[in-house]
Parts: sequence; C-alpha cells; structure tokens
Amino acid sequence: MATGTEPHTDTGVRGATRAAIATRTLRTDRWWLAPAATAGGLLAFIVYSTWRAFSNSDYYAAPYVSPFYSPCLAENCVPMKGGPNWEIFGSWWGLSPALLILIFPLGFRLTCYYYRKAYYRGFWASPPACAVAEPHAKYTGETRFPLILQNMHRYFFYAALPVAGILTYDTVLAFRDENYAWGHMGLGTLVFLVNIVLIWAYTLSCHSCRHIIGGRLRHFSKHPVRYRLWGFVGKLNERHMLLAWTSLISVALADFYVYLLASGAFADPRFF
Ligand code: FES
Repeated sequence: MATGTEPHTDTGVRGATRAAIATRTLRTDRWWLAPAATAGGLLAFIVYSTWRAFSNSDYYAAPYVSPFYSPCLAENCVPMKGGPNWEIFGSWWGLSPALLILIFPLGFRLTCYYYRKAYYRGFWASPPACAVAEPHAKYTGETRFPLILQNMHRYFFYAALPVAGILTYDTVLAFRDENYAWGHMGLGTLVFLVNIVLIWAYTLSCHSCRHIIGGRLRHFSKHPVRYRLWGFVGKLNERHMLLAWTSLISVALADFYVYLLASGAFADPRFF
C-alpha cells in the first residue's frame, strides 16, 4: 500500500507531484504551429549556413566580404584589400576559414536564452508548448552535462562584441567601390548597414548584457549612467526574440548577397 512517503522515481510531467491529467494537453488551439515554424526556420538556417561555411568559395566580391568569413584567420583566405586579414593560423589550416570564426557567433546564438527556448521546443519538444506535456519521462533542466555548458553564454557574449565590431568595420569598408575608392555606395552597402544595425541590436539586447550593465547594483540612483544604459538595453531586450530572428535572416541575406556577386550571378547596383 502506498504511504505517500516513497521516493519519486519519475520526475517528468507524469510525476507524482504533478497534476494527474490523462490527456497530453487541454489546449484546443493550434499550439504545434509555433514550434513547427521555429524548427523549420532554424533548420533552414542550419542547412544554408553549413553549406556556405564549408563551401570555402564566393565569399568576397570587392568591396564586400561575407559576414560568415570575416575576419580571415588563415592564409588560405582570398586577400581582402584593407579588410581584416589576420592570418594567425598560418598555412597549416586547410579547411574553410569560416569554421575558425563561426564558432563564436554560433556559440553565442546556441546558448542564447531565446534560442534555447526555441530549439528545446522545436526540436526536443521539451516542452513543445505552454501547457502541453512533454514526451520525456525525466527532466533535469540544465543542471547536467552537456546542457550545463549553456551557462557559458556570458562568455560568448564577450566574444560576440569584437565579432560585431569587425562586422562594423566591414560595413565601413563597404563605402568603397569595386576599385577601393572611398565615398561610394551600392545596394550591398545598404544590405550591410541593415545587417550591422540588427546584429548590434540583437547583441545588446542579450539578457547577459542587461545584467552586466544593470545587475548587482543596490541603488540605481547612485549609478545614473548605468541606469540609463540599463533602460536602453531593457527596451531592446523586450524585443529579443524579434531581433534574434531578424538578425539571423539579415546575416544570411548579407552572405547570400556576397555569394551572388562573387559567383557572377548578379552585379551590385551602385547609387553613387
Ligand atoms: Fe539571447 Fe544573450 S540571451 S543573446
């Protein structure tokens, strides 16, 4: 006979401490639509970025360099005039140079609070949606390896800052023409401008950034500058999901634009 004091072996949603509801969910709306769309969008980006990162071609069309390949950290890069060519990995690196740099923005997004929610729901159904039981019997959250590594997000945020700085530099270089003369602008310059604004907005809207700026303070009144910055970052933070998606799309579009130019499929319309 159960005494009520036995240890609970099932820690999932069917656990003894959870409400005993027979059906998986009482929701009657199309709750599966959001996780399915999320999984589809993320999958599309993963397929596209994997193809581009490994292709090791068509990533530079003067004056534009793909954000997937900047900065250049190996000798096997196409030389970019005035661009960030820092060949610290020398000639021994034989794979695509994109693989050396993408680990930082990838790690930043992979450990992002929003993306964690998105792919836990979209790919692992953990849980699939609010008030929908997950199919897993156990739930350990992010307390064990490997998910405990998600706590490295703050360090990826620190790494994302110089990456955004380098992409800003690339955007400045986009104000040259194909002969590297300054003071020009093409459609690619606009594509890069939109992308860098969204990249910065996404980076600064990070929850870790918000905590770094406004956390651990006893009195905001004694830190008026940090308080103002915290307010600004907080406003961006409210739109973190929107910025996560728009910046993901814009960085892929910026890369695709360079690919079209470099492969000769398209010519950059020049405004002046
Ligand atoms: Fe999303 Fe930091 S929480 S980037």
